[in-house]
Amino acid sequence: MSPRDLTSILDLTPDSLARLLDVSLGMKRDGSGPLLRGQTLALIFEKPSLRTRVSFEMAMHRLGGHSIYMGGHEVLMGDREPVRDVARVLSRMVQAVAARTYQHSTLIELAEYADVPVVNALTEDEHPCQALADLLTLRERFGSLTGLRLTYLGEGNNVARSLAYASVLAGVHFTCASPEGFALPDDVLERARALPGGGSVTQVHDAHEAVRDAAVVYTDVWASMGFEAELDSRKEHFRPYQMNADLMASAPADALVMHDLPAHRGEEITDEVIESSRSVVFEQAENRMHVQQAVLATLLGGSPG
Ligand code: CP
Ligand code: NVA
Repeated sequence: MSPRDLTSILDLTPDSLARLLDVSLGMKRDGSGPLLRGQTLALIFEKPSLRTRVSFEMAMHRLGGHSIYMGGHEVLMGDREPVRDVARVLSRMVQAVAARTYQHSTLIELAEYADVPVVNALTEDEHPCQALADLLTLRERFGSLTGLRLTYLGEGNNVARSLAYASVLAGVHFTCASPEGFALPDDVLERARALPGGGSVTQVHDAHEAVRDAAVVYTDVWASMGFEAELDSRKEHFRPYQMNADLMASAPADALVMHDLPAHRGEEITDEVIESSRSVVFEQAENRMHVQQAVLATLLGGSPG
């Protein structure tokens, strides 16, 4: 990875993404050793988390380093003090920062003023560590990512955007099926389509059509953190995109089921589908830890090669 930060999948190239997946696989298989002994990661979370927090903390622990978690109302970036001051204070005390913020611009300002690497732990625009863990899961399952068909059902949200960018870089054909008004934004489509790597991004509205040739079908919540108040009014638009047995009957019989979690069973996915033998959701969750170990080791210069 050449840039100093991972604020977006757009910080990566086809080569650096492939390399991160290689390092992740190696660390998952063989362990990493204490590459980051004596180093500390600060975690600033404006929103709740299970997977992201625990996987970052465990990644640092496995690398021989340390982490400091600051949740909800502790730092109050931009409220208790300016984001840029948080960045400059932390840069004098820790070796890296991972942040989960509402506004993507908060993360960017943090990265701009920090002298240490800043990693996106989810913003309203992107969730790059999730997309990397998802690609790692697919690489383990399929061996190669080239030419794989991945269909995502739902809002063109943070998860979908990072998956779209990562897919193109990895040579995956990504189809996003969304209700009218909830598709991937045009600028995201343009940016994704301009990336190297050989993959593609297609935006459609017909869910059954979208899953027909899919090797993998992926979904996410109908209302992301911060948008919960819109859930009730969204339900009627999103119901045709629910991952249920009827929809999965339109997909190839061996298509994998993915979800970044937490899942709202009975909304975007049924209990039957997420609990089925096609589901790899807990592999995705575990892989968050392996990918973040690789990301931190790489950004902090402790990568094994
Ligand atoms: N998938 C994911 O990021 O989960 P958390 O919100 O629990 O971290
Ligand atoms: N799109 C979801 C992902 C949660 C991991 C959200 O932003 O809430």
